[in-house]
Amino acid sequence: MCGIIGCAGRGDATLDTLVHGLSKLEYRGYDSAGVALAGADVEVVKKAGELDALREALETDSPAGTVGIGHTRWSTHGPPTDANAHPHQDCTGDVAVVHNGIIENYQALRDELSEDHEFLSDTDTEVVPHLIEDALAAGAEPEAAVREAVARLEGSYAVAVVISGVDAVFAARNDSPLVLGIADDAHYLASDVPAFRAFTDRVVYLDDGEFARITADEWTVTTLEGSAVDKSVSRVEWDAEETGKSGYDHFMLKEIHEQPRALRQCLQGRVDEMRGQVDLDGLERLQPTRVQFVACGTSYHAALYAVHLFQQAGVPAQAFLASEYATSPPPLDGVVVGVSQSGETADTLSALRVARRRGAKTVAVTNTVGSTMARECDEALFIRAGPEIGVAASKTFASQQAALNLLALATVGADDARAVIAALRDLPGDVQSVLDSTRAEEIAEEYLDSDAYFFIGRGLQYPVALEGALKMKEITYEHAEGFAAGELKHGPLALVTENTPVFAVVTGDGEQARKTIGNVKEVEARDAPVVAVTDGQSDVERYADHVLEIPETHPRTAAVLANVQLQLVSYHTANTLGRPIDKPRNLAKSVTVE
Ligand code: G6P
Repeated sequence: MCGIIGCAGRGDATLDTLVHGLSKLEYRGYDSAGVALAGADVEVVKKAGELDALREALETDSPAGTVGIGHTRWSTHGPPTDANAHPHQDCTGDVAVVHNGIIENYQALRDELSEDHEFLSDTDTEVVPHLIEDALAAGAEPEAAVREAVARLEGSYAVAVVISGVDAVFAARNDSPLVLGIADDAHYLASDVPAFRAFTDRVVYLDDGEFARITADEWTVTTLEGSAVDKSVSRVEWDAEETGKSGYDHFMLKEIHEQPRALRQCLQGRVDEMRGQVDLDGLERLQPTRVQFVACGTSYHAALYAVHLFQQAGVPAQAFLASEYATSPPPLDGVVVGVSQSGETADTLSALRVARRRGAKTVAVTNTVGSTMARECDEALFIRAGPEIGVAASKTFASQQAALNLLALATVGADDARAVIAALRDLPGDVQSVLDSTRAEEIAEEYLDSDAYFFIGRGLQYPVALEGALKMKEITYEHAEGFAAGELKHGPLALVTENTPVFAVVTGDGEQARKTIGNVKEVEARDAPVVAVTDGQSDVERYADHVLEIPETHPRTAAVLANVQLQLVSYHTANTLGRPIDKPRNLAKSVTVE
């Protein structure tokens, strides 16, 4: 949802640093990209399209300066054109601004400014440089002018600003992420750490209402009004290499293959197999009597999965789409858990804030230490998947499933806790064996020209069906839907034809498996091809055209393994269709607007 970067350095490295940073932030949006460098003048180069379009433009027009800002855009106000690309400038050309978020009062500000200022874009952002211009014209010092302008903004923003003749980058945040990086010879500001991780591991996470100023030599963080704030410097625990492709064609494929390691990291030091217990640094004291989950997208599917884990322990649990929860909050009683890879999703943050205002204890289950969610919630459980760059979530879903198992075991237990723990211990190896033996590519080829793709599952496997379909739509642009297996006959069956393969997740050999096999037969009778994702315990293979096998395991971990097979089917389908897998059209990884 737009990535911003700022750099104050020495020599002539700043431009390269900004472009490198943007390449690490492209997952946040890739509709356009731009940079502004400030020396005696401010020079801006910006282009619609992916970062390569900007790179090409910079070959002929290469701005110089030691301080600069950059932006990669996910459009909210106005289409992806050169004019709407950031940075935006004032009328004098002395001010340049990049912004992530939505300025809710921009129309009123624009109306007010329009008499004396010329606007060149459709964006909400463009009011900011003009507000700064007015403050400067009224005699304010540069830093004071930026503060004054930011104080007029309502809505969500992380903004970074450069001004001609000033060797500093100014930045402020409200409801959009912003992190400061500290190196010996330069300082950085960015929406996310990967933007400058190659240069430093020392970071300061900014909070809402804070204002930063960086130069090559120093950094300061204050309140917007100028009072000092005591900020602590954190160390980032992962390496810059983890944000590269490591020889894989796509980040998504790399991240699918990283799942065994991600799962090991998630479980490490948290599971005591001998005692059959889970240790989550005090989270076990939560002991909720009722749990509400709030989440979006893939994380919502992890939340639906988690509902089963708590309900199996006799604790009422519900999962809500965060946007709906915030709009119409249900009666509250107990703990509210936000599930979010990024920890920055605006809808989820908003739902958690609603819950907190109403007195709930909140827990963030997230991949991002230092994220707004982790800091705002009463408790945080980190899923430790490492950086995920592919826009479509893959390894973080598996790690969310594992972490939510740990949360359930630690707080409400399970009748068969030892069996779950043993299955979790084996999970990284089991995922590896799926990766090593999968026939997903073959199946993707077989069903390439289908009219639609359907996914069915029951119980713990229902969220897997939903996630299988979401992955398919996100990266292939093919029509895909996930259904509860038992619901198929109540409507969706009308869509089933010989050109709509149905992926049926059937694990175990109990009643659930038998019932889902009944649903498979209904599909088969309508001539639809069936791909069974199964651990081989039932006889579903008899009714399936193809089988994607997973190792026999606990039903909870079977849901992780089945999903890996479905991730690979979507990946290979998208790859054969030549889709831009890591950056699907219209999407962004971190959606920081509601
Ligand atoms: C975006 C991404 C999805 C993701 C969702 C929730 O829509 O494209 O892949 O699942 O946000 O993100 P979160 O960071 O909260 O898990």
